[in-house]
Amino acid sequence: MPGEDAQTATSSRTSPTVLMCPPNYYGVAYEINPWMSRTRGADRRRAQRQWETLYELVRDRGAQVKLIEPQPGLPDMVFTANAGLVWQQTVFLSRFRHAVRAPEAAHFERWFRAEGFQVRRLPPGLYFEGAGDALYCGETLCAAYRFRSDVRSHHWIAEQTGSPLAVTELINPYFYHLDTCFCPLRPGAALWYPYAFDEYGRRVLERAVNELLPVPTDEAHRFACNSVVIGSSVIVPAGCPKTLSLLKRVGFDPFEVDLSEFQKAGGSAKCLTLRLDGEDAAGWKSGKQPDSEPSSRSDAR
Ligand code: ARG
Repeated sequence: MPGEDAQTATSSRTSPTVLMCPPNYYGVAYEINPWMSRTRGADRRRAQRQWETLYELVRDRGAQVKLIEPQPGLPDMVFTANAGLVWQQTVFLSRFRHAVRAPEAAHFERWFRAEGFQVRRLPPGLYFEGAGDALYCGETLCAAYRFRSDVRSHHWIAEQTGSPLAVTELINPYFYHLDTCFCPLRPGAALWYPYAFDEYGRRVLERAVNELLPVPTDEAHRFACNSVVIGSSVIVPAGCPKTLSLLKRVGFDPFEVDLSEFQKAGGSAKCLTLRLDGEDAAGWKSGKQPDSEPSSRSDAR
């Protein structure tokens, strides 16, 4: 019933809600970024355990987790951040750059429709990889292009949503998605790895985000920026002690999680999740005070 669908979408926006996809078919079956090596592969049982740890941690931090059914032949479907960009009740559906991931879109589309989202597709010919490359920080849509998404996709979405846009080019193939090098924490604050951007891109982000907290190079390569923010909690990939201290210093509670098997495909905590109610840092979320204290309410279970 359409009425029920609308209600589902509404209730999913009132509390932190995260989409995940179980790793039943996960593996390194092709190579579309420099982290991936088919010969090295990934250990599926270990991946399963690591994914379950993340799932439990996300729930423990006060978020509801919704699951999409994994599909054989689509090993990267676990990276739900790439399903689309959620904005209010709308999702801007991804169109994947690489043919091996393209069929994921139809599964995500069906899922979003069943959940009551309004699904919007980009104009023909444009590539877009969802929350992998487009993240709200306050009112501004921060977005990146080159390896995956097209710059025109971001301009189109910014126009459709009436959002100011801070668009940057990625320059390092190890940081091929924005969420590998930039992580909004709250309106006006974000973690970032400055060397994933050129000088111009750095200036664009510096102008858009008041408080940019740089992570060190070695931790950036351990996916420090691929962290999941839930209220005042931040779930950080393992091996990033400096990022943990940095987060504590600015008032967050960091939690570590080992996702080494997923890093072999070029993804970590953030890539494995999609906030269905919008990120905590997104200015369009109702009742959000710019530059407010991180809310600890969402920690309550
Ligand atoms: N193997 C996947 C790809 O290259 C990893 C995606 C990681 N997702 C992300 N949001 N960064 O597409």
